[in-house]
Amino acid sequence: MSIRFSLSKSLVAGLAFGLFVQPVVAQETEWGSDAPPAIRKTFQKDDVFLKDLLAKMTWEEKCGQLTQYAGELTGPQPIKKELFSRIGTGEIGSVLSISGVERCRKMQDEALKSRLKIPLVFAFDVIHGYRTVYPIPISEAASFDPALAQEAARVAATEASAAGINWTFAPMVDLARDPRWGRVIEGAGEDPYMGSVFAKARVRGFQGEDLSQPDTLAACAKHLGGYGAAEGGRDYDTSEISEMTLRESYMPPFEAAMEAGVATVMPSFQETAGRPSHANTFLLQDLLREEWGFPGVVVSDYGAIEELLAHRIAGDRNSAGKLALEAGVDIDMMSDIFRTLPRTPETEKAVDEAVLRVLTLKKDLGLFEDPYRYLDVERESQVVMNPEYRRGARAAAAKGAVLLENRDSLLPLDLNGVKQIAVIGPLAADARSALGEWNLVGRAEDTVSPLMGLQKNFENRGIKVVHSEGCPSWESDPSGISKAAQLAAESDLVILVLGEPYDATGESRNRTQIGLPGSQQDLLEAVVAKGKPTVTVLANGRPLALTEVKDLTPTLLVLWHAGIESGNALYDLLVGDAPIGGKLPMTFPRSVGQIPLYYNRKTSGRPPAEGVEKYRVDYHDSPLTPLYPFGYGLTTSAMKFSTPVVSSKPGEWPIVIEGDISNTGSRTADEVPQLYLSDEVRSVTPPRKELKGFERFTLEPGQTQKYRFVIEKDDLRFVGLDMKRTFEPGWYTVAVGADSDAAANFRMEVGEDGLVGVSRP
Ligand code: NOJ
Repeated sequence: MSIRFSLSKSLVAGLAFGLFVQPVVAQETEWGSDAPPAIRKTFQKDDVFLKDLLAKMTWEEKCGQLTQYAGELTGPQPIKKELFSRIGTGEIGSVLSISGVERCRKMQDEALKSRLKIPLVFAFDVIHGYRTVYPIPISEAASFDPALAQEAARVAATEASAAGINWTFAPMVDLARDPRWGRVIEGAGEDPYMGSVFAKARVRGFQGEDLSQPDTLAACAKHLGGYGAAEGGRDYDTSEISEMTLRESYMPPFEAAMEAGVATVMPSFQETAGRPSHANTFLLQDLLREEWGFPGVVVSDYGAIEELLAHRIAGDRNSAGKLALEAGVDIDMMSDIFRTLPRTPETEKAVDEAVLRVLTLKKDLGLFEDPYRYLDVERESQVVMNPEYRRGARAAAAKGAVLLENRDSLLPLDLNGVKQIAVIGPLAADARSALGEWNLVGRAEDTVSPLMGLQKNFENRGIKVVHSEGCPSWESDPSGISKAAQLAAESDLVILVLGEPYDATGESRNRTQIGLPGSQQDLLEAVVAKGKPTVTVLANGRPLALTEVKDLTPTLLVLWHAGIESGNALYDLLVGDAPIGGKLPMTFPRSVGQIPLYYNRKTSGRPPAEGVEKYRVDYHDSPLTPLYPFGYGLTTSAMKFSTPVVSSKPGEWPIVIEGDISNTGSRTADEVPQLYLSDEVRSVTPPRKELKGFERFTLEPGQTQKYRFVIEKDDLRFVGLDMKRTFEPGWYTVAVGADSDAAANFRMEVGEDGLVGVSRP
């Protein structure tokens, strides 16, 4: 599916966000399989400089280039005291988790004292912003606006590169179908198409068009592969995925990252089908290098080579190192195993190839030309926390918010007669949680918490804001609930900010219960019992099971962990300054027992049937359907979808599906037409339906907007029994609507040469 967005269009239609980052994104951007790769660099056989350099290197220096060490911890391995001296002897080729020009400069000085003066690369987890922290990636995906994700990555790259960093371990492109898994915060949700579109956008945002520019970062598509399928949602645990599902669902975002020219790849911690990814030659050789032709660097995850011992696939460190190297891992992050690799003809060959890839990356980054290219103190002080980026963060936070309920049409707020607002709940004043779990540099004191944003903005309008936490965010402690409820009773309006604390989300933060933690449900009940108009806002990092919440509160807004400007963005959304138009990139189940539940699962031989209770795919104690489906999110106006039509001619590619949406309500609002196709019959069981296109629009009252989806033959290919992408002629059911429950509009027959015909149901 090729959808073309132009950034300038999104700037006009959007929230002027791009205006503030214009110096770094100017060109028209294309999304889709036909878009040219932004960067694809590889070692050139006639590169005399790198060949000569390799020839001069000792075995120890080569292994040094393949060794990465941390300046600060993001995992369990201790930091070696002798890091500095080892840099000086060329035993370390790259450093992770260090930032700040001054600190990086000291290390670079040391590297340049080494015999061959090979510069260091500085890597960092720049996941959703550097110091100007943007919303967590799942929120960016909820914007259904890849141009926004690209711009956010561009800002992150600009800031981080000004602080000395040249390589980010992002984007995470793992498909996630299990909301118990803490790392769902980092990805684009459950859909391979969405995942692919966002993977491309983020890679392009980080890398720009030329890695040697001082405001770009090398990106890293991680974690290859199937990491999100960990059993029970337990991070690091085993995944059981068939090759067909791996290829059909989990791999497309990685392939999209390849198309966007991603410079590096990181394998995943877990094992699939008996092989941990760091020793998985199918993933790292057959798929990555041979099928996809990836020329770049593969960096291990943190200590993951040593973990091959715990996986019990290697009996000692040497064997672990050999397995990883021979599988195709180029850089050893934090296991310190590659430096003691046994020297054999096989390892020598593999080491030479890996070293050339690492040196090529350094060359692409411009580090041989100028090792201090990213180390300019003045630039750092001008760029990091540039106030313009905050405005982008505010717009991004608003765009990711999803309205789940507006049963009393409370939003946007009518403030007539409102004198006092009670802002209640443990996530209201929690600036640290607003930043999300995966940020290493963001500071709570830079952050506008929901409470701060509401207080400042409402008080500017002469409305008093009172606050009570009510209960802690994680532990059960109901002692503050009655005071909070009393405050609600005394106020004209209540904004209840509930959700998850940041450290209940992210890496290794898996949950068995995904309702409101601690005493929050009791707080909600006590507050709504006071009968005041109440907006329930969720500051969360994963889909939550909200069955009991939904019944209690008629107004429910998912804000996520929305970054440094959380509070201002929340204000914009509540008063209607920013249209609420995000959509869920992951299914919200009714209960944990339904997991995994994703919209594009298979139908089964016994699908649910009206009036038939037994012997069907279903539960005895719960509906099968989710509470909120993938793609769901309300708008604050009324939107009408025309019946879509095929506007291209039979017998040709692409097939074009068009239609209109009209804002028939009285407010400016956003809507996202989404195209779902369902292959009716084919040789491999098809998903119930599949997202094939979407586009977010802002519409004035009375405005009508045309959407246009372009389907190429490649978009209809699926993984066949022979594990190859294949096309089969046949019928498709077509639905365009506001979420994945959109009703079928028509059927179309497609042949080798494009459209054959259309029939209305
Ligand atoms: C472990 C995580 O799995 C990975 O995503 C991250 O990049 C590294 N730690 C480095 O911090």
